[in-house]
Amino acid sequence: MPLPVTSSPARYPLAIIGAGALGLHFAARLAGVVPVAVIARDAGRAARLRAGVQVGDQRYRANAFAAAQPPLADWVIVLVKAGDTAAAAAIAERMEPLGVLSLQNGLTGDLLRAHCRAPRVDQGITTEGAYRERTADGERVQPSGAGETLLPAGFEPAAEMLARAGLRARIEPDIARARLAKLLVNVAINPLAALFGVTNGALLDSPHRVLLDTLVREALPVLHAHGLDLDETAALARVHSVATATARNRASMLQDVLAGRRTELDAITGALLRMADAGGFAVPTHRAVHTLVRAIERAAFDSPEGRG
Ligand SMILES: NC(=O)c1ccc[n+]([C@@H]2O[C@H](COP(=O)([O-])OP(=O)(O)OC[C@H]3O[C@@H](n4cnc5c(N)ncnc54)[C@H](OP(=O)(O)O)[C@@H]3O)[C@@H](O)[C@H]2O)c1
Repeated sequence: MPLPVTSSPARYPLAIIGAGALGLHFAARLAGVVPVAVIARDAGRAARLRAGVQVGDQRYRANAFAAAQPPLADWVIVLVKAGDTAAAAAIAERMEPLGVLSLQNGLTGDLLRAHCRAPRVDQGITTEGAYRERTADGERVQPSGAGETLLPAGFEPAAEMLARAGLRARIEPDIARARLAKLLVNVAINPLAALFGVTNGALLDSPHRVLLDTLVREALPVLHAHGLDLDETAALARVHSVATATARNRASMLQDVLAGRRTELDAITGALLRMADAGGFAVPTHRAVHTLVRAIERAAFDSPEGRG
């Protein structure tokens, strides 16, 4: 494996906002091929990341900066949770980038564009996986599965850096369709897993399966109106295959609920409800699921253990 690039240029070729599971996973990989700036929430976190954080089997000493003092960068990847998108967009704008790319779950592109006037602001998708865990000496980020990262046209230099770092990354000409296909999976699996407190694989079994399939069938006309071209059989097969491939995983929305954190419900089911309202589609099961997850989230968030 190549040695990490440790120089600190005045202007970074690449920066990542969000020093969490996926952000540090990407940054640690990229650091082997390009100077990469990591933007953490505050100075204390940035100092800890500069001292080193365990990412997989690598001790990664990040070129980390506090959000209040970000460096200039050509390309910025946003990997904060959806609820922090507006704040991340404002940080990204101050970095005077050529392009800002969200790889978040849910639909966050409009929010990003509303708060960031860079020449290019868009959203790709990734099926890379990583999670954070506490260890005796601090924190570790554990990559949990290699996936694929799709970027919109116009982000070729960023795609090239990701690919050089050994990540499967490419430009997807029809990124809107790819985003909708990922949204379909997310609106079906995430809220149900959070509601029932089960792993993804359990959603394929009774009594959850009927709800899972209902959510897919209800979402399809809405997503078709926006350009998704999967028929019902293909849509169900796609969702079932993701649930099977991630059978033992806890969906991120379930992890958030269990930890008393705000979920990405608004960017996932909320986005579908807004599309349905605009197009006059009835999505009663999604609406019910949205109300229920919101209630659970509020109860967890308001509890003494809730951390927001
Ligand atoms: N993890 C995965 O496997 C995976 C896979 C595909 C997609 N995604 C998507 O990728 C995004 C990130 O997920 P994640 O799992 O990496 O989340 P995460 O571990 O919670 O990381 C998010 C990070 O963003 C930081 N942050 C929040 N607001 C910030 C701000 N204003 N300035 C600087 N940093 C800020 C958080 O800081 P604090 O820790 O201080 O709050 C946290 O370190 C989500 O949209 C998720 O759905 C994740």
